Amino acid sequence: AAPLLADTLQRPLRDLRISVTDRCNFRCVYCMPKEIFGRDFVFMPHDQLLTFEEITTLARIAMDHGVRKIRLTGGEPLLRRGIEDLVGMLAALRTPEGEPPDLAMTTNGSVLAQKAEALKAAGLDRVTVSLDSMDDAVFQSMNDVSYPVAKVLHAIDAAQDAGLGPVKINMVVKRGLNDHSIVEMARHFRGTGFILRFIEYMDVGHSNGWKMDQVVPSAEVIARINKVFPLEPLEENYGGETARRWRYADGAGEIGAISSVTQAFCRGCTRARLSADGKLFTCLFATAGTDLRALLRGGATDVELAGALGALWGARTDRYSELRSAATPGLRQGREKIEMSYIGG
Ligand code: GTP
Ligand code: 5AD
Ligand code: SF4
Ligand code: SF4
Repeated sequence: AAPLLADTLQRPLRDLRISVTDRCNFRCVYCMPKEIFGRDFVFMPHDQLLTFEEITTLARIAMDHGVRKIRLTGGEPLLRRGIEDLVGMLAALRTPEGEPPDLAMTTNGSVLAQKAEALKAAGLDRVTVSLDSMDDAVFQSMNDVSYPVAKVLHAIDAAQDAGLGPVKINMVVKRGLNDHSIVEMARHFRGTGFILRFIEYMDVGHSNGWKMDQVVPSAEVIARINKVFPLEPLEENYGGETARRWRYADGAGEIGAISSVTQAFCRGCTRARLSADGKLFTCLFATAGTDLRALLRGGATDVELAGALGALWGARTDRYSELRSAATPGLRQGREKIEMSYIGG
C-alpha cells in the first residue's frame, strides 16, 4: 500500500469533506446572509463543478493515502442532481485494507425525507441534519426562507427510519438569536437516540459579520444544560473528533459540543476539504486552495494526482483556530477568507 501521509505537525490525512455544490435553498444568517447571497449572487456555473467521475477519482486516490471517512457537504448537498449516483460511486471505493469508507452527509434536511431511502440504498451510512431551534419564529428567522421546524423534524425521522442513524442534529448557537433555545433543544432530543450537537458560531468567510461577543462558549452551553439535566463527560470516539461528547447522567443519551472558537481542536485535525469546483483546502479557514480540477482536466495520471496530494498534505501547517484563540480578533483582519458555502461546511 502507498505510504500514509503526514503533515508538518505529524497529523495524518483521514477525512475528506467534499462540497458538491455551493448553492443552498436556505439563507442562514451565519452562513449565506441574504444581503450578500441575494438574487444577483453568481454561483458556480455547472461546467466548473467536478463531475461525479472526477470526485470519485480524487476520493479514490485520497483513500489510497489514508482517508477513511468521506462527508458530503455544500451548500446543500441534496440540491446536486443525481447525488444518489455519487453516493453509490463513493460507497464502492475501498481502502487498501479492503474497507468501504465511512460515508456521511451534512444536510439542512429540506429534501431529505423524499431521498432518505434512495441514499441509504446507494450506500450512505449516516446523516447530520442542521436545526437551530425548536421555536418556529426563531428557526425561520435564522434560515431566512420561512422553513418550518416541523419539516426538519419529519426529515430527521425519515432518515432514522431509512437506517441513516444515529442521526446527528447540528445547532449553531448565536448569542441573542437562539441561545435561549439551548435547553429546549436538549429537552426535545433527550431520550430519542438522536445526537444533538451545539456548535460555536465561527468566523468563517466574511459575509456573516462575525463578532466574538456573538459566540456562546461551549462551557456555557454545557453549564446551562447541566443545571437542568446533569451531564457526565464521555471519551472521544476517535482522535481529533470535532465534538466533545457528554451523556445525560440519567441515561437519556448523549450530546456534543463543537468548540472551534474557545477550545480549538486543530492538534488532531485530519480533515481536508474539496470545493465543488475541485480546489483542495487543508483548513476550513484556508485562504487559497490547490486546483486539482486543472490537473484532472489536464490529463494528470493517478500517480501525478497522488504526488500533488502528498506534496500538499506534507507541507500543511494549518492550525487556524488555535492561532485565533491565541490572538483574537486581530488575526481576522486583512485575510481573504473563503465562504463556508464555497469551501464546504
Ligand atoms: P462527525 O464527527 O462525523 O459526526 O462529523 P463532523 O462534526 O466532523 O461534521 P459536521 O459536518 O457535522 O460539522 C460540525 C461542525 O463542525 C460544523 O460547523 C463544521 O463546520 C465544523 N467543523 C468540521 N470540521 C471542522 C474543522 O476541521 N475545523 C473547524 N474549525 N470546524 C470544523
Ligand atoms: N459557524 C459554525 N457553524 C456553521 N455552519 C455553517 N456556518 C457556520 C458558522 N459560521 C454549520 C451548519 C452545518 C455545518 C456543516 O456547519 O449549520 O450544520
Ligand atoms: Fe445552507 Fe447549511 Fe449554509 Fe444554512 S448553513 S445556508 S443550510 S449551507
Ligand atoms: Fe483543522 Fe483548520 Fe479547523 Fe484547525 S481550523 S481544526 S486546522 S480545519
